Amino acid sequence: MKKISLMLKVNGEEHDIYISPNRTLLEVLREELELTGTKESCGEGVCGSCTVLCNGFPIRSCLTLAAEVQGAEITTVEGLREEEGQLDVLQQSFIDHGAVQCGFCTPGMLMSAKAFLNRNPDPSEDAIRQGISGNICRCTGYTKIVDAIMDVAKRSQSRG
Ligand code: FES
Ligand code: FES
Repeated sequence: MKKISLMLKVNGEEHDIYISPNRTLLEVLREELELTGTKESCGEGVCGSCTVLCNGFPIRSCLTLAAEVQGAEITTVEGLREEEGQLDVLQQSFIDHGAVQCGFCTPGMLMSAKAFLNRNPDPSEDAIRQGISGNICRCTGYTKIVDAIMDVAKRSQSRG
């Protein structure tokens, strides 16, 4: 298949790449850009482990062709890190609440939670459960994940 040139903007950096047009965003992130934080589990749009943000909205990178998101702002879990290399508040909250076990769902869960909180800064527990309902976790039973997300929401509310 004839290769194409693309510019992908990931975590604020522009990357010029030369790939087959049928390569998914997930493949390109992991194999071309070595951003292996984004995980592949089902590979068919069901589990959410490959979730990244595209212009602030969560998308399944296993179902998205890299060519479809040329020029868009893509954010992966690596992009959550603060400038000084500290963890994002949501990442720290997941650790503090024991919301990470095997960790395979965690990058995708974090990205869905991030996008959710940006849209819903004062959510109910039910709304959080709904907000992450596209992300499957086989380990935690979800309660600690919901607690971690709720804690971040409450803390940002109290900071006004
Ligand atoms: S790996 Fe993409 S949704 Fe499961
Ligand atoms: S922590 Fe193992 S799948 Fe979620």
